[in-house]
Amino acid sequence: MSNKERVLVFGANSYIASSFIEKYQDTYEFIQVSRQKKKQHIFFDFLKEDELNLMIDQLPNNISAVLFAQGINPSVGAENMSVEHFMKMMKVNIITPSLLVRGLKNKVASSTSFIFFSSISKLKGSYDPAYAAAKSATDGLLFSLAKAYPKWRFNQLSLGLVENSPVHREMTDDFIERHTSHMHNNELVNVDNVLSMLSEMIRNKNMHLADIKLDGGYV
Ligand SMILES: NC(=O)c1ccc[n+]([C@@H]2O[C@H](COP(=O)([O-])OP(=O)(O)OC[C@H]3O[C@@H](n4cnc5c(N)ncnc54)[C@H](OP(=O)(O)O)[C@@H]3O)[C@@H](O)[C@H]2O)c1
Repeated sequence: MSNKERVLVFGANSYIASSFIEKYQDTYEFIQVSRQKKKQHIFFDFLKEDELNLMIDQLPNNISAVLFAQGINPSVGAENMSVEHFMKMMKVNIITPSLLVRGLKNKVASSTSFIFFSSISKLKGSYDPAYAAAKSATDGLLFSLAKAYPKWRFNQLSLGLVENSPVHREMTDDFIERHTSHMHNNELVNVDNVLSMLSEMIRNKNMHLADIKLDGGYV
């Protein structure tokens, strides 16, 4: 039996999660969950909460960390806002992860680190209000979950624009310039620095209710 810590990854196809899995495959045992299922992945769509128990039944026990790396990139401005888009943002970022924390009760070890991804948009806003609102809501959620589940740890990474991620690659040059001009040395966030912080959040048992800002000191 492997003595590697077992890490459950939601959004396993995302840029950050797939980079983490590739870099740390010799360090951790990964259980990968995704919506566009690849070989060896377990399928789960965060918009289909009625399939949650079916997915949980497929998971092994003794999980040491849970990464919520799924997400919907900013895509709808205030003028085009719809209830449907707002609900999708809230479901994917807040509602389904909360149900999952509760549902994983018998699958996770004590001191398990649940890791959420928030964003600089909670400080500066986003052209997509639903995105910024969902990424801001993690703050209160994590403290509430910590009260309800005192044996586990809850941490979050609040990211600025990550270089080479889909949201960066799809951005126009003037939008990129608008970001970098506010960041230290005009540099976007390097994904390797995100990955090493994720590993620290898994391993460091004193890290609880931490909100690590990796955003180049955006001002
Ligand atoms: N990249 C950045 O600059 C940045 C900045 C701030 C915060 N973040 C946050 O960091 C996290 C990772 O970012 P990333 O750039 O690596 O993400 P990404 O590459 O854009 O991937 C997002 C993933 O979310 C999954 N997803 C979307 N809707 C889903 C649903 N309904 N059910 C299940 N999975 C769903 C997609 O899964 P499938 O591929 O399986 O469809 C996709 O792989 C996200 O929460 C993001 O909001 C990123």
